Amino acid sequence: MNNPSSPIGVFDSGMGGISVLQQLLRVLPHEDMLYFGDGANAPYGTKPTAVIRDLTERAAEHLLARGAKAIVLACNTATSAAAAALRERYPDLPVIGLEPALKPAALSAAYPTVVVMATPLTLKEEKFAALTRRFADKCRIIALPAPGLVPLVEAGRMGTDDARTYIEALFAPYRDEGIDCVVLGCTHFPFMKRDLRAVLGHTVRFYDGAEGAARQTRVLLDRAGLLNPKEIPGTICFENSDETRLPLMERLLQYEID
Ligand code: DGL
Repeated sequence: MNNPSSPIGVFDSGMGGISVLQQLLRVLPHEDMLYFGDGANAPYGTKPTAVIRDLTERAAEHLLARGAKAIVLACNTATSAAAAALRERYPDLPVIGLEPALKPAALSAAYPTVVVMATPLTLKEEKFAALTRRFADKCRIIALPAPGLVPLVEAGRMGTDDARTYIEALFAPYRDEGIDCVVLGCTHFPFMKRDLRAVLGHTVRFYDGAEGAARQTRVLLDRAGLLNPKEIPGTICFENSDETRLPLMERLLQYEID
């Protein structure tokens, strides 16, 4: 666990965390990455919090047993349910979580209208309530659960009619709300950014937490003396509790989000 040459463990319910992995590779190109997707149990966002806490703790145990020196919870849902418990259980382990990038959206203009898209679990947890309280006087916040996007990404169905139809129906009630910003508060959603843009138009600004989490990972590793000293490109190892999903993981790693 305390070896700078060990890999960074990256975890998500499935494929979504690959949007975070893309940023980790950019910010930390010399680190080895061990990515575990829990495809057999996805989606997480519609399950009870206690179940997700257990699944996340089990995933962390698995990554630690494989030698991870830090854990990136590349999943807003797992972070909401389990980050605090993990930090308590492993006080010396750098644990990096994801949370909806509300701050940059709220501060992007004078009192913008901000839609926060996330899983039902993320939106109902106290962590999100605390976040909205912090920015409630800076922007108008519309919390929008979008669980249907997760299985679409898990099936690699970006750019399909089904994706477009789901997004159109999801945003239909908000057509006249003057949306300025959309926060992608689930790591699966950046893969749907092009579909979202096609429905919402090009003036809406999108925000997600991937780059911030990658930078925070670098800060915490540096602070713990755990940055990998080698100067050659790091390796990537994909694991999935549903092995049939491995080829799609490789494809999403190459997927251009913007
Ligand atoms: N990717 C996850 C997140 O960031 C959750 C998706 C799911 O399994 O519901 O919230």
